[in-house]
Amino acid sequence: MKKYAVCGVSKRANDMFINPMLKKFANTSQLVALLDKDPKRFKVCKAEFPQIDHVPEYSEGEFEKLVEETKPDVIIVTGRDDTHADYIIKALEHDLDVITEKPMTTTAADSKRIMEAEARSKGRVTVTFNYRYSPFHTKIKELILEGKIGRITSVDLNWYIDTYHGSSYFQRWNRNRELSGGLSIHKSSHHFDLINWWLDQKPVEVFSFGALNYYGNDSEHNPREEDGRHCVTCKVKQDCAYYTRWNTRSNTANVKDDHIDSDARRKNGYTNYRPDQCIFDSEIEIEDTYTATVKYDKGALLSYSINFSLPYEGYRLAINGTKGRIETTEYHAPSRVPFPVPEQTIDYYPLFGAKETIHVVKREGGHGGGDPVIQEDIFLGEDPTRPYRILSGSEDGAYAVATGEAVWRSVKEKRPIAIESLLVGKQQVTTS
Ligand SMILES: NC(=O)c1ccc[n+]([C@@H]2O[C@H](COP(=O)([O-])OP(=O)(O)OC[C@H]3O[C@@H](n4cnc5c(N)ncnc54)[C@H](O)[C@@H]3O)[C@@H](O)[C@H]2O)c1
Repeated sequence: MKKYAVCGVSKRANDMFINPMLKKFANTSQLVALLDKDPKRFKVCKAEFPQIDHVPEYSEGEFEKLVEETKPDVIIVTGRDDTHADYIIKALEHDLDVITEKPMTTTAADSKRIMEAEARSKGRVTVTFNYRYSPFHTKIKELILEGKIGRITSVDLNWYIDTYHGSSYFQRWNRNRELSGGLSIHKSSHHFDLINWWLDQKPVEVFSFGALNYYGNDSEHNPREEDGRHCVTCKVKQDCAYYTRWNTRSNTANVKDDHIDSDARRKNGYTNYRPDQCIFDSEIEIEDTYTATVKYDKGALLSYSINFSLPYEGYRLAINGTKGRIETTEYHAPSRVPFPVPEQTIDYYPLFGAKETIHVVKREGGHGGGDPVIQEDIFLGEDPTRPYRILSGSEDGAYAVATGEAVWRSVKEKRPIAIESLLVGKQQVTTS
């Protein structure tokens, strides 16, 4: 029986880790402690899972006490992004294993500190990059490993976030670079990790442009220049297109979303936590639009863009190699795409030959059936019959963060940024 403690009793912790631990993996897993800075989080979690009523609760400064009293084997890190690094390093100092949500940290410097701590520790870090587990994404990995497209030369990836999901980042802590690293880290680290994993190449250099176009005080959609509004009490919300698009006048949002639990938050009123801050506040200064070019160590070039305020959500991907090309387009969150969309397939074009369309086998569960599989790898150990590695370690986490940091730094400094300049002196960790 493995003993787990959760640091950051977020919605993500409840859905992705605590729920499966208590239900599917109860024979091998035991939740021994909860840690959060907000006691109301414990209440909400225990109301959802009454069987853990007895589990002890610890405040943010009580990590040492938690370890001493409950003797966990593994620390699950699922709090606000800026809190990850300290809990990961403290766990490693106790030789404990760590499972952390993405992004592993909010800065490359913190990622480097983690790799150094891991090199000194018996503990190992796993970063739960669940996008790798989508059946479309594993199929692409397999096509590349089969050599179908040869040596990869270039990748085009355009990621689209809709007005509902995109604006939600600007209503919460995610809008603050100090707390999330900005969206090129908080969100794009998923995408940079996917590329690193598919290509089996490391990012070397990044150049990018970025801007704040939709949110913040200067937005053309801002109904009135005034700081500190909240949607629940806002006097001008009926003039706010982002609000009226997704809410009725009686304030009942009726959309499917796996990140935001606004209803629960409104009802439970977490301490000092508002999920409905105004998306036009002048404190917002992160970017909502990026284009970036990334060069990789074995020669591939990436052309990447992301936009956080679009009419629908999804992505377009093309991977080009010396022997062919893979293409796919995804329309995400069907309940929020306002028009009929084609089913996702993967098109394979050999450089000289007939096109093939691949219909991917999906499974039940979140992210096209990817979530139940990553949960099995996390709680039962990585599937030994899979012919390639898929669970990420700290180095994967670090490269994803460093690429995201290079993106926003390049925007600010108007120059290319070398990844090694951010991760300089990193120590290699050998994983068995
Ligand atoms: N892989 C994915 O697809 C995915 C999806 C959603 C969220 N996430 C990640 O999961 C994590 C949680 O995200 P969320 O949106 O559910 O968060 P959330 O806003 O619901 O919760 C954040 C939690 O952190 C706690 N916290 C803040 N400061 C703390 C501190 N100093 N010590 C301990 N706890 C502290 C808050 O009280 C809260 O419980 C984030 O790292 C996020 O990036 C990943």
